[in-house]
Amino acid sequence: MRLILLGPPGAGKGTQCKRIIDKYALTHLSSGDILRAQRAGGTALGKKAQAYMDSGALVPDDLIIEMMIGAIKKAGGNFVLDGFPRTVAQADGLTKALKKAGEKIDAIVNLVVADEVISARLTGRRSCPKCGAVYHIVNVPAKVAGKCDKGCGPLVQRDDDKPQVVENRLRTYHQQTEAVVGYYEGKDSPVLNIEADRSAEAVTADIIAQLQRLAG
Ligand code: AP5
Repeated sequence: MRLILLGPPGAGKGTQCKRIIDKYALTHLSSGDILRAQRAGGTALGKKAQAYMDSGALVPDDLIIEMMIGAIKKAGGNFVLDGFPRTVAQADGLTKALKKAGEKIDAIVNLVVADEVISARLTGRRSCPKCGAVYHIVNVPAKVAGKCDKGCGPLVQRDDDKPQVVENRLRTYHQQTEAVVGYYEGKDSPVLNIEADRSAEAVTADIIAQLQRLAG
């Protein structure tokens, strides 16, 4: 199965991907995580991406399309895309690359959350730099405050989760990414709109129910 998870920053794309990958045997391909790994490794791509990410802007399309198409090829046939595509140009690049390989996306899961909910989610997010687990200081607290439940060590706050940058990320989403939903509507791959201002468990149950309905 080939899925895309769309939605604003903090909608819960990463959280939901982690909750469904085992059930459907999918590789989780997060453009944000791949970029952060490139930055941590000090690669040329990581250095180019840094200033864009720190300000809440998008990294240029050509760099992202090349990076994600490469990741998709390595993943084989079953994957869920998280954070990509984020512009109509990226969606078009993806469609063309999949068509060339005789493939298509099976469904687009669009997480719908109001802006007001987003800032509280992002400013309270904490992640484990070692295993990638994601927590929230109120909604999904670690068993011991500030420490990963898996024993990896201290949790960190992402630099781009500071209030000023969150505001820019939301603006960028409305200006450049929202249109991606419209790009997919009425095409081959169905768009499943999911109300995501509910518990993570309720959102997962809805995603699975809608995917099962699609499979008939
Ligand atoms: P990226 O890492 O993709 O960030 P994002 O899309 O802004 O998404 P987030 O990771 O912030 O949120 P999420 O939806 O995954 O939410 P999460 O599950 O963590 O991108 C970062 C940057 O990289 C971009 O700004 C850009 O510069 C660059 N970039 C990446 N992709 C790019 C692309 N394609 N093109 C160009 N540039 C690109 O949840 C958030 C919090 O809420 C957590 O604390 C979680 O515990 C909590 N939570 C989750 N679900 C719930 C729930 N149902 N109820 C309560 N709390 C919840």
